[in-house]
Amino acid sequence: MSSSLSLPAAASAAEKWAALMPQFRALLGGEPSRVANLANAAAALMEAFGWHWIGFYLVDEVRDELVLGPFQGPVACTRLRHGKGVCAAAWDTGCTQHVPDVEAFPGHVACSAATRSEVVVPIAVAGEVVAVLDVDAVELDGFAAADVQGLEAVAAWLAENWAAWEG
Ligand code: SME
Repeated sequence: MSSSLSLPAAASAAEKWAALMPQFRALLGGEPSRVANLANAAAALMEAFGWHWIGFYLVDEVRDELVLGPFQGPVACTRLRHGKGVCAAAWDTGCTQHVPDVEAFPGHVACSAATRSEVVVPIAVAGEVVAVLDVDAVELDGFAAADVQGLEAVAAWLAENWAAWEG
């Protein structure tokens, strides 16, 4: 397993995703700790794309809330509840939320005042959302279609492997 990424410097979003995904799978494949894999997933995405905040909220079944998981970026809200915000919308609907302007999203939870756009992708195992992947940008409309597709591919890969991991 490699512990560093090799990414093209001046590349389109699609080219960066194409370079990243095999390395992403190699980095995480074979490691049985879920926490370690989510931490390295967030770090790999930050290293590749440099977004403002990248991380995971995990479903806390006891409290029926989302609780902060491994992330990269500024300190963030620790807990999120049903029915309020972009992460909760992904959790409640099971669908990707692509928000080009967070101020236009009713109930958006502003963990960081610098965030202007956001993508949240649910991670669903056997039809049930177990976590969400949340990514924030400081630019309005900061995510290309290739980014949304890439984040969905990451979430799908994590979902496929989720049950085999410990933690
Ligand atoms: N903006 C999110 C909250 C999490 S932070 O962006 C890290 C939301 O509306 O759910």
